[in-house]
Amino acid sequence: MKPIKVGLLGIGTVGAGTFNVLQRNQEDIRRRAGRGIEITMVAARKLDKARAIVGTGVEVVADPFAVVNSPDIDIVVELIGGYELPRELVLQAIANGKHVVTANKALLALHGNEIFAAAQAKGVTVAFEAAVAGGVPIIKALREGLTANRIESVAGIINGTTNFILTEMREKGLDFATVLKQAQELGYAEADPTFDIEGVDAAHKLTLMSAIAFGIPVQFDKAYIEGISQLQARDISYAEQLGYRIKLLGITRRTHTEKGEGIELRVHPTLIPAARLIANVEGAMNAVLVQADAVGASLYYGKGAGAEPTASSVIADLVDVTRLATVDPYCRVPHLAFQPNQMTDVAI
Ligand code: NDP
Ligand code: HSE
Repeated sequence: MKPIKVGLLGIGTVGAGTFNVLQRNQEDIRRRAGRGIEITMVAARKLDKARAIVGTGVEVVADPFAVVNSPDIDIVVELIGGYELPRELVLQAIANGKHVVTANKALLALHGNEIFAAAQAKGVTVAFEAAVAGGVPIIKALREGLTANRIESVAGIINGTTNFILTEMREKGLDFATVLKQAQELGYAEADPTFDIEGVDAAHKLTLMSAIAFGIPVQFDKAYIEGISQLQARDISYAEQLGYRIKLLGITRRTHTEKGEGIELRVHPTLIPAARLIANVEGAMNAVLVQADAVGASLYYGKGAGAEPTASSVIADLVDVTRLATVDPYCRVPHLAFQPNQMTDVAI
């Protein structure tokens, strides 16, 4: 069978990681997907920048719409970041009947309801494992592994940059600005790192997990968000003297009050007893704890940011979409977070 054709929008940290891992593991990936997965077109701003794809024969273009509108592309992978341009690109890809894989949590937290509805109407998939917790397959766990359960809460460390900053400040006594710069150099931080340090990136991810766990629309505007920019070195050392670690947590859970049932969504620095498992999640690692009725507590842990961990999730989605598109060109349902017409609007 002919390979499935993939167009990459963006070949920065995650795009290059995706290209490299696909090349390196192509035989295993082909076997698992049932056919080859081939990147044939890439869009980037600076065409002359040295890239992993130079000399490979992959077509590089400056106009991302050329990829989205190409009749030769089956799956569009959006790795540009931001809100408006990716929204237009993804909606255009869907309108053209293409499946979409994205790592862009900001896009889905703001425009996910519109994008998922458009995908469902067109019968195509929008897959986004890489958008939450980098290489940790938490979307698959929530949507597939835990599908029998009534989920009560999802909570954890879901931003690698801030966890890296808090760890390095505590362990090495480095200052905030120095560690943030390191996180940028390591490819962990967002293009605008205020998204990381002000808790916005974690809230984007939390909103997506909440939508899947509780079957509600994506409601980023309802989240309480507080980041770590106001924390000082002495806060971290006082916490340590008292037997605690400070972690930026994202928490979403069912609430039961006299007003009725609701869903809580919050991101903020939290004091955690140093002996707890989650207090010992260090560096750019992420960990998500899910409480559910049948299985009880389950914990998902791994690298939450960086080129190849994130590529691992992008390619997992590519393999899933390839398998489904091969047996069912409309590859419905499994990759949508929820059925838009079955959503319940829940007060938060
Ligand atoms: P980068 O900034 O490293 O890469 C962005 C890429 O998009 C670059 O290749 C850039 O081109 C290209 N690009 C930007 N604007 C345009 C445009 N107008 N037209 C064509 N190409 C364009 O970002 P990352 O790889 O770090 O992140 C990509 C996405 O993945 C983001 O949504 C991010 O939130 C998400 N993500 C990132 C993770 C990480 O660890 N970095 C982890 C999980 C998700 P050029 O190279 O020429 O500048
Ligand atoms: N900036 C993000 C983080 C990248 O640090 O977690 C992974 O989504």
